[in-house]
Amino acid sequence: MKITIIGTGYVGLVTGACLAELGNDVFCLDVDQKKIDLLNNGGIPIHEPGLEEVVARNRAAGRIRFSTDVAASVAHGVLQFIAVGTPPDEDGSADLQYVLAAARNIGRHMDGFKVIVDKSTVPVGTADRVAAAIREELSARGGNGEFSVVSNPEFLKEGAAVEDFMRPDRIVIGHDDSPAGQRARDMMKLLYAPFNRNHERTYWMDVRSAEFTKYAANAMLATRISFMNELANLADQVGADIEAVRQGIGSDPRIGYSFLYAGAGYGGSCFPKDVQALERTARQYDRELLILQAVEAVNDRQKRVLGDKVVSRFGGDLSGKHFAVWGLAFKPNTDDMREAPSRVLLQELIERGATVSVYDPVAMAEARRVLELDLGADKMSRIRFAEAPMDTLDGAQALVIVTEWKAFRSPDFEAIKARLVNPVIIDGRNLYEPGLMTQQGIEYHGIGRSI
Ligand code: NAD
Ligand code: UGA
Repeated sequence: MKITIIGTGYVGLVTGACLAELGNDVFCLDVDQKKIDLLNNGGIPIHEPGLEEVVARNRAAGRIRFSTDVAASVAHGVLQFIAVGTPPDEDGSADLQYVLAAARNIGRHMDGFKVIVDKSTVPVGTADRVAAAIREELSARGGNGEFSVVSNPEFLKEGAAVEDFMRPDRIVIGHDDSPAGQRARDMMKLLYAPFNRNHERTYWMDVRSAEFTKYAANAMLATRISFMNELANLADQVGADIEAVRQGIGSDPRIGYSFLYAGAGYGGSCFPKDVQALERTARQYDRELLILQAVEAVNDRQKRVLGDKVVSRFGGDLSGKHFAVWGLAFKPNTDDMREAPSRVLLQELIERGATVSVYDPVAMAEARRVLELDLGADKMSRIRFAEAPMDTLDGAQALVIVTEWKAFRSPDFEAIKARLVNPVIIDGRNLYEPGLMTQQGIEYHGIGRSI
């Protein structure tokens, strides 16, 4: 099928590459000329396991192309996927300016039937606004093209995006029952047929329910994490081990094991903004989502938990003290620094007068860029970017772990002890067993593990 993807970011690039891999003819559009040039020169703008190979293979086969040419992009695909960003507005609601700009472009150039697929995460009712924007542009130029807007939210996780897209646990599609909506449904069914071969994974529903499903999923996952973080902080007080508790409750199939890991708070481009946006939607209907307000407040506090642990161990005045930090990205296998808990920790350590040596396997360049924005150029001199994890340790009072990269799981603890000023590890992701740490002579502070 001929497909256009509008927005070549995490979701757009992965969607385009994976659909090309299945044999479709994909046109990826972006407004960012630098990104398009990089892709056309064989580069990849993000770190995402497996993506580079899929893009290269399909580019070589002529099944995917990258361009900033709006008219050509609209002419190309019968299916027009909108995969642009929906960042938080000043009041926390989803900013739809990029989605609506994409819709207007389609209306301005379309000729013949189009299915507009909302893949971006958008508030309930957005499909109606997309349709209205297209209609307005069509009527302004006296055009009368037929179209239908469907909702097809994306559930991939960064760091596992290609795998998640290629093996989805579900595909959610919302469409209306008009003749154009039925035609759109048939085309979506054909597009996703390769994913439904062994068993049907598609959930067909009305458009508003599909839009809502995406927010409900992210809000539920964020709730589980904040719930566990709150319990972990209590476990620290009462002398219980949150890891044992996690296994004890996760074994109940009604609860399950996933997304119950206590840590340094959730980050990333989606949970924080989507929880806020759903709260804003509720306010527009004079409702309050009290649970989600708590989820957000708990997460804001949890992002400070590592800083609090440093202060309770080393005091509030950290001037003259040096710390080692492992892991900067908001989660492993990505270089994404959006809302990363490491940013909150580093800000606190620097403001209290400390200097820091940091290491991340892939996010160093992106970290330099965002930390300079967070801290200002002069404070950047207080951060040293090390070339290897062990090179952060010399002269440091403690090692603080923020992101659970695999490479941090089995370090040489003797060498860590030898290089740190004090044998102290403050572990924001509960990577090590407290008992083994004590045996190694390491003072270990996990999250909810003060047994
Ligand atoms: P992103 O910021 O990585 O990419 C968005 C891209 O859209 C950018 O390259 C930008 O230049 C481009 N763009 C903006 N306006 C455009 C226009 N008018 N025409 C063409 N291109 C335009 O964003 P992302 O992380 O891919 O997220 C996109 C959407 O998908 C968001 O709504 C997000 O909530 C949702 N989502 C993201 C993830 C994820 O893991 N990142 C997962 C599921 C859903
Ligand atoms: C999340 C969802 O998992 C995806 O299904 C969704 O498509 C995506 O948001 C989105 O809408 O953009 P992502 O943000 O890429 O994906 O990453 P997650 O693996 O969900 O992790 C998010 C944050 O939660 C990370 O900071 C992670 O460290 C934290 N987390 C996750 C925990 O603290 N504990 C857990 O048990 C799981």
